[in-house]
Amino acid sequence: MDSSRVSTGSPALDDLLGGGLERRTITQVYGEPGCGKSTLCLLAAVAVLAEGLPVVYIDSEGFSADRFRQIAGDAAESCADRLFLFEPETFDQQAIMIGECEAIVRSRHAGLIVLDSVTALYRSEMLPGGEVQRRLGHQLVRLLGYAKRFDIPVLVTNQVYMDIDRGVVKGLGGTTLRHISKAIVRIEKRNGSRRAVLEKHRSLPEEGAFEFEIVKEGIKRL
Ligand SMILES: Nc1ncnc2c1ncn2[C@@H]1O[C@H](COP(=O)(O)OP(=O)(O)O)[C@@H](O)[C@H]1O
Ligand SMILES: [Mg+2]
Repeated sequence: MDSSRVSTGSPALDDLLGGGLERRTITQVYGEPGCGKSTLCLLAAVAVLAEGLPVVYIDSEGFSADRFRQIAGDAAESCADRLFLFEPETFDQQAIMIGECEAIVRSRHAGLIVLDSVTALYRSEMLPGGEVQRRLGHQLVRLLGYAKRFDIPVLVTNQVYMDIDRGVVKGLGGTTLRHISKAIVRIEKRNGSRRAVLEKHRSLPEEGAFEFEIVKEGIKRL
């Protein structure tokens, strides 16, 4: 694999992204609840952990140890030893934990940072829009700084809202999150199956896509 890329643990998603997660950048996966965002995060984390590298995993939506075990399989125990899990309960805690994880990334030489999701706690913040956007921007800039300083990818997920006027589902986080994410994958849920669509990329045509279903071990391309 190209050394500027880190495998997502899914050959189909690696292909879609032009070889995997790009180092020194933020990759965003967004879509409605149950579309497979956390599954993709766990897959990517397990792929890096299985290579022997630590992973910093910030989970604001409730980490499922069972799902981690299913995806890691026989390697679950050794992978768990290198997993640094943070579970913020407020948007402020999320900011603090993003700050704290720098020391771990630095001292343990982590190979990946995951934030699943950036917007769950942001969404519940009762601050005025401008202020919450500013804080979100600050968190993202910090993460991007780590990606660059430590030459690793950052993978984030994003929740969606319904744009009533246009009748479409859109990612939260406004332009701040859209701009700072160098690659964006949208996941569409269709009955049993899912479709991953490349919505933004620096060096690939947009709208590349593949279909998949969620299985015990992660995802299966259809
Ligand atoms: N072991 C499994 N086998 C098949 N499907 C599963 C398994 N575990 C979870 N799922 C399915 O995965 C979906 C949730 O995926 P998840 O990655 O948590 O979505 P998101 O993070 O986007 O909300 C649900 O449809 C659930 O039924
Ligand atoms: Mg999830």
